Amino acid sequence: MHPDLEKVLITEQELEERIKELGEQISRDYAGKEILVVGILKGAMIFLADLVRSITVPTYFDFMAVSSYGAGARSSGVVRILKDLDRPIEGRHIIIVEDIVDTGLTLNYLVQNLQARNPASLKICTLLDKPSRREVEVTIDYNGFSIPDEFVVGYGLDYNERYRNFPSIGVLKREVYVK
Ligand code: PRP
Repeated sequence: MHPDLEKVLITEQELEERIKELGEQISRDYAGKEILVVGILKGAMIFLADLVRSITVPTYFDFMAVSSYGAGARSSGVVRILKDLDRPIEGRHIIIVEDIVDTGLTLNYLVQNLQARNPASLKICTLLDKPSRREVEVTIDYNGFSIPDEFVVGYGLDYNERYRNFPSIGVLKREVYVK
């Protein structure tokens, strides 16, 4: 285990098994349809890469990159689109793929933004959910793991852009982020 980690919260094997289940569930739910998976960069990239490999219905990808405005504007829930989708989504079955839902502000904004583009359907799939941090209600259709309010990194999740490449999800030692 990396010395900056206090503990491993979700092992590689647990991730693999749960993500396979999510992929199978999505494949059943969308049988006979095509889906467009919208990955939210950068955190969701590793989860998305593994998830889509266990989806058996025709699957297309697109990506968005968003960032929240400074701390002051945070509670307004307005996010800035750094990279928008490449193509229109009208009439398509969309699944937003996130690594984590925390306050819910990012997803709340994204759902409203994408819904306005008239998709045939719009669902949310997240690897992790921290329900204790929620500020706005978000309906999560597919959730890998509900976790406590701990500083998690790895498997796409970062602290100051570090640790994204760790194969499991770990809890960061407090001394690493509290100086
Ligand atoms: C994380 C995560 C979500 C958002 C969740 O992204 O990927 O997009 O925060 O938080 P919320 O529910 O409080 O809005 P982050 O801004 O860390 O960017 P990253 O994916 O590039 O790491």
